[in-house]
Amino acid sequence: FQPKIMAGKRILITAGPTFEPIDPVRGITNLSSGKMGYAVARAAREAGAEVTLISGPTALATPFGVTRIDVQSAQQMMDAVNRSIDGQHVFIAVAAVADWRVANPSTQKVKKTESGVPVLQFEENPDILATIAARTTLAGHPYCVGFAAESENLVEFGAAKRERKGIPLLVGNIGHQTFGADDNTIILFDEHGHTILPRADKLSLARQLISEISKRINKHSLF
Ligand code: C5P
Repeated sequence: FQPKIMAGKRILITAGPTFEPIDPVRGITNLSSGKMGYAVARAAREAGAEVTLISGPTALATPFGVTRIDVQSAQQMMDAVNRSIDGQHVFIAVAAVADWRVANPSTQKVKKTESGVPVLQFEENPDILATIAARTTLAGHPYCVGFAAESENLVEFGAAKRERKGIPLLVGNIGHQTFGADDNTIILFDEHGHTILPRADKLSLARQLISEISKRINKHSLF
């Protein structure tokens, strides 16, 4: 039994990888499975929130009672977030968004030719979390939570990343094994410092995270 600590709250979550097209049949993606984001969506719904999950391509089932919007590229994810963000109390960016997209995707399948290999140019994708964190509108702006997967110096990088993104809470994943795994160890960074949530399955960590967010939004009492 989960207490309904998020009753009456609207929570928007991004999850999974993004897929950046090269041509109609090829693209660039990453190893995010979406498991952590989907676990967060499930935990938020169990806690009584109205949950919208904007998901890159994954093989996962939609958690019960969650509204899911499927996207492929980072730009599509940004557009979907922009369309859904008004009236949200909390925004949790769990997606592993590609930093770059192919600037010159082909509208037709690229053929193998004698004249050599294709040259891809890249351009930067929007930073969805930083964009939402920077929003200041009359509709209020949501309590923003970010994730970070660093391969080294997590404690130092995590605190710096929280400040750079302009967010009150950043969740750091410890270790390299997190993509695709069922377990995780996370560190929460807020304005007071950091707290470690010891290794556990992603759903129990997601429930703990929702409880930590609930305490903080009640303290801020934004709405
Ligand atoms: O800067 P970095 O990619 O490590 O930041 C990770 C956090 O920022 C995650 O919460 C991720 O969902 C979010 N992010 C985003 N849009 C991007 C890149 C990252 O929302 N283009």
